[in-house]
This record gives sequence, structure tokens and C-alpha cells, in this order.
Amino acid sequence: DKTPPQLLIIFGASGDLTERKLIPALFSLYEEKYLPKNFAVLGISRSDSDDGSFRDQVVLQNKHIPETVKNHGLRKSFAEKVFYFDLGDSYDVDYSALNERIEALDKAQKTAGNYIFYLSTPPSLYEIIARNLNKAGLTSDNGGWTRLIVEKPFGYDLASAHELNDNLQKYFQESQIYRIDHYLGKETVQNLLVTRFANSIFEPLWNRNYIRHVEITNAESVGVGKRGGYYDKSGALRDMFQNHLLQIVSLVVMEPPIGSEPEEIRNEKVKALKSLRIMDDPETLHKNTIRGQYLAGESNGEPVIGYRQEEGVDPNSKTETYAALKFYVDNWRWAGVPFYVRTAKRMPTKVTEVVIHFKTPHHQIFRNSMVQNKDNKLIIRIQPNEGILVKFGVKVPGQGFEVERANLDFYYSELADQKIMEAYERLLLDAMQGDATLYARADEVEAAWEFVDPIVKFWQTDPNAVTFGYSAGMWGPKNADELIEGEYTWRNPGEH
Ligand code: BG6
Repeated sequence: DKTPPQLLIIFGASGDLTERKLIPALFSLYEEKYLPKNFAVLGISRSDSDDGSFRDQVVLQNKHIPETVKNHGLRKSFAEKVFYFDLGDSYDVDYSALNERIEALDKAQKTAGNYIFYLSTPPSLYEIIARNLNKAGLTSDNGGWTRLIVEKPFGYDLASAHELNDNLQKYFQESQIYRIDHYLGKETVQNLLVTRFANSIFEPLWNRNYIRHVEITNAESVGVGKRGGYYDKSGALRDMFQNHLLQIVSLVVMEPPIGSEPEEIRNEKVKALKSLRIMDDPETLHKNTIRGQYLAGESNGEPVIGYRQEEGVDPNSKTETYAALKFYVDNWRWAGVPFYVRTAKRMPTKVTEVVIHFKTPHHQIFRNSMVQNKDNKLIIRIQPNEGILVKFGVKVPGQGFEVERANLDFYYSELADQKIMEAYERLLLDAMQGDATLYARADEVEAAWEFVDPIVKFWQTDPNAVTFGYSAGMWGPKNADELIEGEYTWRNPGEH
């Protein structure tokens, strides 16, 4: 069995991530028999609770765990693996009582001294927890191994991300630190690597000679919901772009790694991120970055309020709920190829896709037919309807050479019986097995911040940086359409 006995210790266990994502993911792993026999979870937070009520809340009564015929009865046995420790008033305390609890649990559950600490608290507590774990002697491998999983956001800007890396590395080796980005846990994001490097029909074309531009859309139909307080200080660039979108970009851009070992892949991703051209002059920033904010409108046929009216949001806020960038990648493969990447809330639908736009054939024989926007496209649907779509030209039956677009369309759902693992399941299982491939390395996170930092600063400080309004339920502000030159426009999934 690849997954050794272990104890998973969650800090911030009363937060909603534990109930919404972590426990359901662990339960599903349990159900599918991926968890080792000797396994336990210890939830830690400042809430006055105990094993019984914690089990009740996160397992027995958890509505995020689907009730199926198959799992009926399993909840109870799983709940017995879940424990709770009340840290008291503060995270900044002596952890020796916690240490004793961990040791006792480890002994009773035979988890072999293997510990994963999962930081699911506000980021301001990461350093404090790491320091106190270290003081209590819990950060080194005493007989078993110790790992640390860190939730997002990882830093607020380049300086704070760098400081956080420094602080964590005071107490943990880099090889013990797993920075989570749940997009890397998505099957289709990982499939970018397989599409590119396990086929010989795409990679030879994957460069400036054949690709005209690359377009990535990440749209959500939801607004900020109850997270206004957090979101207003963050914005789309920090919340989605610095992490999830740039992870996708790095997988599209990277060179072939020499193998599939974690460091082989991560080295190439870092190189890719470092080759993004930094935009730090006001003129380029002005031209190539668009920030927007949703106004009142409609979502799924229902009227919805504007961003500035949301709870926890400053009524004069300039924070972006829409971000679209045009940028270049300065390396041999991508020189001169524009990348258009956008992410937003309150769009007409929830969708994430990568579109590779190929160039028009050099010599056009069927002159009248090759309309620009009909060029070959490779569309990688990250979510929903996970799959791959190739658009290519076919002859319209009949006289002459009229060319029409046809589709070669693959859906993951066609792979019979293959359940797509939820991102958190995959990522937790990987960390349990010591595989860091799908976790961000320190230099990777910093390289991503290096690109994003000047844009955030420009938007915050330049008096000419505008936040454009767009009605909820629309595809963003009008002027974002002008970002893509020529006869090209954004591909709004579902429209063409
Ligand atoms: C999170 C962001 O990281 O990702 C949220 O903080 C966003 O604002 C979410 O809604 C989107 O994730 P997914 O998996 O639903 O695309």
C-alpha cells in the first residue's frame, strides 16, 4: 500500500473548509479504500467543542457528504477516526498539551509517528502555528515523517509571500511544505501535461510558428457571496489569477520536463513563470490590463445586487471582480505570441477553458472560405463538461470548395466507470503519499507574485487606472473586447 499510517492534524478545523471540503474528501477516500487502516484526523481550533460534537458536525450531520446507499453505515466507522482538540483562546500558546494529545492519539491509532499539519486558518496565523509546532518539537521527523500543508492565499503580494516562505522555512524543510492550489487537483488541469507530452500530434505545433494566440477564460456565475470582507481586500487578481490561472498558464507554457518526478515538473513550471514578461510601465499596464466590477444585474434569471452593495464591501470600492490581461512570454517558443487571460465573477455561466488558436494556413487555396475566426482551435475544457475539442475545416458537400468548421469532441464522461476525483481528494492523497508534484514550490509562488505584483500596484495607485462596471450576468466590460486585436474576439463558451 502506497499510503502509510498517519495522523492528519487540521488547524482551523471549525472553519468551513473542513466541513465543506476536507472531511468530505477524506470520507470519499475512505469509502474508496484509499486511506490506510491506521489513520486519524485531529481537528484543532479555538472553539469549545469535543470529539463527540466535532464528529457530529463534520461527519455525521455533514450535508456536504452525499448520502448514498453505498456509504450508508460508513459514516459511523469513519467518525470514529475523527478527534478534536480545543486550543483555548489563542493559537500563540505553548503546544505541549497538544503535543501530548498527538502522541497519545498516535499511539492509540498506531499512526507510526507520521504527521501532516494542515493550516486552514487565516494566513496571519501560519507563522505563529509553525513557530509553536517547532517549539514543541513537532516539526522534525521523530521516528516518522512530518509534513505541512498550507492553504491559500499564500501571501498578499510578493514581499509578504517571500516573508511567509522565509518564516515557514525556519521551522520546516522545503521538502516538508505543501502549498495547496486546488486547481492543480483538477483532473483536466493535470491532463494539460498528458495532452501535450503523451501525444505526438500537438507538441510539434505548440509554439510561435503555428499558434497565433492563447486564450484562457475562467468565469464564475456566483458573486462574492458572504466573502465580501475578504474579497474586497483581495480582488480577482490575487484571489484567482496569481494562483489558479497562472498555474494553468505555466502548464500551457512550460517546456517538456525530462520526466514526471515532482522536481522535474516543478522546475519547468518555475522556468515558465519566470519567462512571463513583467508589465511594469504605466503605458503597457494601461493598454494591456482591464479591471472590472459587477453592477446589479441578473444571474440565472434572478435579479442580483452589484458588488458595491454586497455585505462587507466598501461602497466606494475599486476592487476588481473581473480581470483580463494581455501579456507575452519571453522565450524561444512563445516570442511574439499574445496570451489573453481573464477571470471574473458574475459571468453568464461557470466555465474554465483554454483555447489554443492556430494560425491561418500560410498559403490559402480556398480563399473565400478561410474566415479568420474559423481557424483551427484546440479547446481544453477544464470545467464543466471536462474534455477536449478540436475545431478543424471540412469541405461543405457540393460544388466548389466551401470550407466549414467541424468538431472532434472528447468528453471525460465517455470514459466509462471513471469517477473523476474531486480536487481535494487527489491533493490530500498525494500529500499523504509524499508526492508534491501538484503542490506549488516556494520559488513558483514567488515567480507568480512577481508577475502579478506590478499590476496590483498599478491598479491600486495609478489615478488613471479605471475600474469598469459590467452588469452581472454579462461577459465583462465592453472595452475588454478591444484587448484582442484584429478580427478576433473572446470565445464566450456557449456562444460560438
Ligand atoms: C477559490 C477562490 O480559490 O476558487 C474563490 O477563492 C473561487 O473565489 C474558487 O470561487 C473557484 O474554484 P472552482 O473550483 O469552483 O473553480
